[in-house]
Amino acid sequence: MKLGAGLLVVPTVLTIALVSIPATAEEASAQASLDDQVEAFLRARQSTWRDMNVPRRDGQFLHDMIVEKGYTRALEIGTSSGHSSIWIAWALSKTGGKLITLEIDESRHREALENFEKAGVAQFIDARLVDAHEAVKTIEGPFDFVFSDADKGWYKQYFIDLAPKMAPGGCYTSHNIHMRGMAAYVDYQRSRPGFETTIEDDLTSGIGVTCRVE
Ligand SMILES: C[S@@+](CC[C@H](N)C(=O)[O-])C[C@H]1O[C@@H](n2cnc3c(N)ncnc32)[C@H](O)[C@@H]1O
Repeated sequence: MKLGAGLLVVPTVLTIALVSIPATAEEASAQASLDDQVEAFLRARQSTWRDMNVPRRDGQFLHDMIVEKGYTRALEIGTSSGHSSIWIAWALSKTGGKLITLEIDESRHREALENFEKAGVAQFIDARLVDAHEAVKTIEGPFDFVFSDADKGWYKQYFIDLAPKMAPGGCYTSHNIHMRGMAAYVDYQRSRPGFETTIEDDLTSGIGVTCRVE
């Protein structure tokens, strides 16, 4: 009886292992080949970004934040030709998330779409050719990650429109926070109850990180 009971248990355990291990290995292998494709694309294009794109270390910072916090619902304002979107989408490929990115300029939007295909991250991106001034008012949240990188004069209004759509624990990041005229924007963010703002100073032009704490 004991031997019989043991024989029944062993195949059951083996069956579970055989079903789960290949699936995990396939996923791991798909992610590894995606990682290779994205890394190769970013290395090859490193010195070619010309459309007001973020520098590599800022892209790396955004990527690392998303992976560390496990964010999955991301919004970017200002796609341009897609450098920051690729870093964000690469991170989301690891967390199981998706990025919505907004751009008003048609030629940059089209170039971004081509870059997303070449980098291998198109499936993680919903790229919209829209005026973000209007789009953020109607876009459906919640978001746990936002990257604001379009017209600086509208940063405050973008934040006003999107703050209620931030998930608890989510972070709203703002590029070029050290540019002239941005201090009032940062002061406004710091005055908002329920949010805490820090500045990543060692990045090229500063990234504001405003996280929803309540
Ligand atoms: C600094 S660039 C973005 C760079 C991009 N995040 C990157 O690192 O690759 C700003 C972009 O915002 C876009 N933009 C400006 N005003 C906009 C608006 N109202 N709606 C959508 N996009 C806008 C510009 O056309 C420009 O391509």
